[in-house]
Amino acid sequence: MLLCNALLFAAVACAAKSTSTKNQYVTRNGSQLLLNGKPWTASGGNVYWLGIDQNVVPPAGQPYAPPASYPTQGRITEIMSTLVTMGAHAFRSTTMGVSVGYPLSLEPELGQWNDQAFDTIDWAVYQAGLHGLRLFAPLIDNYDYYHGGKFVFLRWFGIDISSSATPLSPLVMEFYNNQTIVDAFKTYIEHLLAHKNQYTNLTYAEDPTIFAYETGNELGGPVFGDMDVPPAWTDEICSYIKQLAPKKLCIDGTYGINKTHLTIDSVDIMSDHFYPPNIAKLNSDIALAGGANKAYIAGEYDWTGNVRSAAPLQSWFGVTQNNTNVVAGDLFWSLFMHDVPNCSVYVDHDDGFTMHYGDPNNTAHNNTQIRTVRKHLFELQGKQIGNSFPPVQCP
Ligand SMILES: *[C@@H]1O[C@H](CO)[C@@H](O)[C@H](O)[C@H]1NC(C)=O
Ligand SMILES: *[C@@H]1O[C@H](CO)[C@@H](O)[C@H](O)[C@H]1NC(C)=O
Ligand SMILES: *[C@@H]1O[C@H](CO)[C@@H](O)[C@H](O)[C@H]1NC(C)=O
Ligand SMILES: *[C@@H]1O[C@H](CO)[C@@H](O)[C@H](O)[C@H]1NC(C)=O
Ligand SMILES: *[C@@H]1O[C@H](CO)[C@@H](O)[C@H](O)[C@H]1NC(C)=O
Ligand SMILES: *[C@@H]1O[C@H](CO)[C@@H](O)[C@H](O)[C@H]1NC(C)=O
Ligand SMILES: *[C@@H]1O[C@H](CO)[C@@H](O)[C@H](O)[C@H]1NC(C)=O
Ligand SMILES: *[C@@H]1O[C@H](CO)[C@@H](O)[C@H](O)[C@H]1NC(C)=O
Repeated sequence: MLLCNALLFAAVACAAKSTSTKNQYVTRNGSQLLLNGKPWTASGGNVYWLGIDQNVVPPAGQPYAPPASYPTQGRITEIMSTLVTMGAHAFRSTTMGVSVGYPLSLEPELGQWNDQAFDTIDWAVYQAGLHGLRLFAPLIDNYDYYHGGKFVFLRWFGIDISSSATPLSPLVMEFYNNQTIVDAFKTYIEHLLAHKNQYTNLTYAEDPTIFAYETGNELGGPVFGDMDVPPAWTDEICSYIKQLAPKKLCIDGTYGINKTHLTIDSVDIMSDHFYPPNIAKLNSDIALAGGANKAYIAGEYDWTGNVRSAAPLQSWFGVTQNNTNVVAGDLFWSLFMHDVPNCSVYVDHDDGFTMHYGDPNNTAHNNTQIRTVRKHLFELQGKQIGNSFPPVQCP
C-alpha cells in the first residue's frame, strides 16, 4: 500500500484520492444506492432549521421576522461535527429546500427573490461536504409552518383555504392539478437548483453533496395520510429535477407508499415516516419498494421511545439493517445543539422530539435512546462502538 507522504507526486495522488469520493455522485442500482461502486445508505438525522430557524431570537440588528431567523454559521458547523460523531452519513433538512412566503424566505412573494436566504444554505452544503456528509431536502411542505409550503402557493393564486380544517377543502388539490400553480412551483425549483454556492462555485444542481431532492414533506390530499398525490404530478416534478440536475436522485415525498406511484420511472426512492417506529409498516414498505425495484428511505422516525406502542428502536433498526438491499437509510427527527456562539445553552424546540447530543440535562432514558441510535449508525459503517459519548467541540 502506498504511503501518502512517501513522495510529492504520491501525496498529490493521495490528496486527489481522499477527495474523490466526496466528488462522486450517489447512484441507484435497482433498489440499492451506491457510492464509489459500493452500497451506501443515507443514514442519519433530520436538522430541519439549517436554512431558516424558528427557535432563537437573534441579536439586535440581525434579520428577524418572528419566529424566523437565520441560524449562525457556528450552529450549522457544530451540527455537522455532531452528525459525524454520531456516525451519520447524511442528513435531511426541510428549510434547505422549502423557503417560500415569508420575509426571510428565498421567495417571499410570488416572483420576488431574497437571495440572502441562500447564505445559510450555501454554508450548510459547504460544511456538509467538508465533513464528508451528504444531504437531501424536500422542496415543499404539506403543512403551513414558518418556512412555507403548498398553502403559500395556493394563496399566491387566490386559493386561501384553512390549513387546519378536517378534511381540507378539496381545492387543496389545485396545488398538484392546476398547471399555473405547478409551473410557479417549478420556477421556484429552478431558482433553487440553478443557484451557485458562494463557497464551492457549484450549483446545487451540480453539487454531489446534495444527493437527492424530495418532491415534498409528508405530501397528501384533503385527508391527513390519504397519500392522495397525483402520480402525474410526482412524475412531472421528479422529471424536472432530473432535467435541471441529471445526476440527482428523486425521492417521492408522499406520506407513505402509494401503490400507484411504484411504476413512476423518474422516482428513485420511496419514503415514509414513523411516529412511532412500527415494524409491520416498515416490513410492508420494504416489500413494496423492493418489489418495484426502488430504493427506500425512512425519512423521519420518533427516536424518543416515549410512545407506548413504539417498537423498541433496536428491533426496528434490526429490520432496516437486515434489509440494506432496499433500505437506503433512516433518519431520526430531530437534532439541535448549542445556541452558538453561546455554548452554554442548548437550543430547545417544543415538538417533544428534540435530540440534544451530550446535553448534561438529558435523562438516562434520553441517553439510552441516543446511544442506540449512535450504535446503529456505526454498525451501518461496519463498526462496533462502546457506550461513551465522545464530546463534540462547540465552535
Ligand atoms: C446492481 O444490481 C444487480 C442486481 O441486483 C447486481 O447483480 C449487481 O451486482 C449490482 N451492481 C453493483 C455495481 O452493485
Ligand atoms: C389555475 O389557476 C389560475 C390562477 O389562479 C386560474 O386563472 C385558472 O383558471 C386555474 N385553472 C384551472 C384549470 O382551474
Ligand atoms: C469561485 O470562482 C471565482 C471566479 O472564478 C473565483 O475567484 C473564486 O476563487 C472561486 N471560489 C472557489 C471557492 O472556488
Ligand atoms: C394514491 O394515489 C391515487 C392517484 O392519485 C389516489 O387516487 C389515491 O387516493 C391515493 N391513495 C391511496 C391510498 O391509494
Ligand atoms: C427525555 O426524557 C424525559 C424523561 O423520560 C422525557 O420526558 C422527555 O420527553 C425526553 N426528551 C425527549 C426529547 O424525548
Ligand atoms: C436479521 O437477520 C438475522 C440473520 O438472518 C436474524 O437472526 C435476525 O433475527 C434478523 N433480525 C430482524 C430484526 O429481522
Ligand atoms: C448564554 O445564554 C444564557 C441563557 O440565555 C445566558 O444566561 C448567558 O449569559 C449567555 N452566555 C453568553 C456568553 O452570552
Ligand atoms: C439545563 O436546564 C436548566 C433548567 O431548565 C437550564 O437553566 C440550563 O440552561 C440547561 N443547561 C443547558 C446546557 O442547556
